[in-house]
Amino acid sequence: MLFPPAPLVTPTDRERSLGQSAHVFWLTGLSGSGKSTLAQHLEQALQQHGYKTMLLDGDLLRSGLNKDLGFSDHDRTENIRRIAEVNRLFLEAGIITINAFISPFRSDRAAVRDLLPAGCFSEIYLAADLTACEERDVKGLYKKARAGEISSFTGVSSPYEAPLNPDLVLSTGAETVEQSLASLLEFALLKVKPSAA
Ligand code: ADX
Repeated sequence: MLFPPAPLVTPTDRERSLGQSAHVFWLTGLSGSGKSTLAQHLEQALQQHGYKTMLLDGDLLRSGLNKDLGFSDHDRTENIRRIAEVNRLFLEAGIITINAFISPFRSDRAAVRDLLPAGCFSEIYLAADLTACEERDVKGLYKKARAGEISSFTGVSSPYEAPLNPDLVLSTGAETVEQSLASLLEFALLKVKPSAA
C-alpha cells in the first residue's frame, strides 16, 4: 500500500504563487507538420507575456528519459504514458507545459487527458497532410522511410490517427508559422490567465 502525505502546499497554491493557470498544451501531427517549431514559438511568446513554461519534445525526451524506447506501437504507447506522468508533475508544479509529440494513437492521447484534472489539457491538431509533410521532408526521414532504411515510420509504414474532436486545429500545411502562431497564442492566453478566485 502507498501512503501519500497530506499536502501543506497544494497545486492551486503553486499556481497562485506563479500568477497563472497551469495547463498542458498537446501538439499532435505527422513528422514535419510543424510541432517543434510552433511549440518553441508558443513558449517564447508565453514567456514574453510573463508566464512560466516548459517545453517537451519527442526528439529531446527520446535522448533521455525515453532513450530505451523505439517506434513499435507498444513503445510509442509507453513513450506517451511516461510523458503524461511528467506532465502531471509539471501541472502540479503550476507550470504551463507545451508538448510536441507525434502521439499517433487516439487512445494514448485520450489517456493523457484522462490522467489530468478536467479542463487542464488541450489537444491541438497540426493538420498538415502527408503530401505536404513529405514534400518538406525537413529531416530527410520520409525519403529514408520510402527507401526502406527506416521501418515503422509514421504516415508511411505506421499509422497516424487524426484527432476526431481536437480543441484546436491549425492548418500548418497551408498557412505560415506566423499565422498558425497567432491562432495558437490567442487560444493559449485564454487558458493560462490566472483564475479570478
Ligand atoms: S511518438 O510516435 O512516439 O509520439 P515522438 O514524437 O516521440 O514519436 O518522436 C518522433 C521523432 O522521432 C520524429 O520527429 C523523428 O525525428 C524521429 N523518428 C525516428 N524514427 C521514427 C519513426 N519510425 N517514426 C516517427 N518518427 C521517427
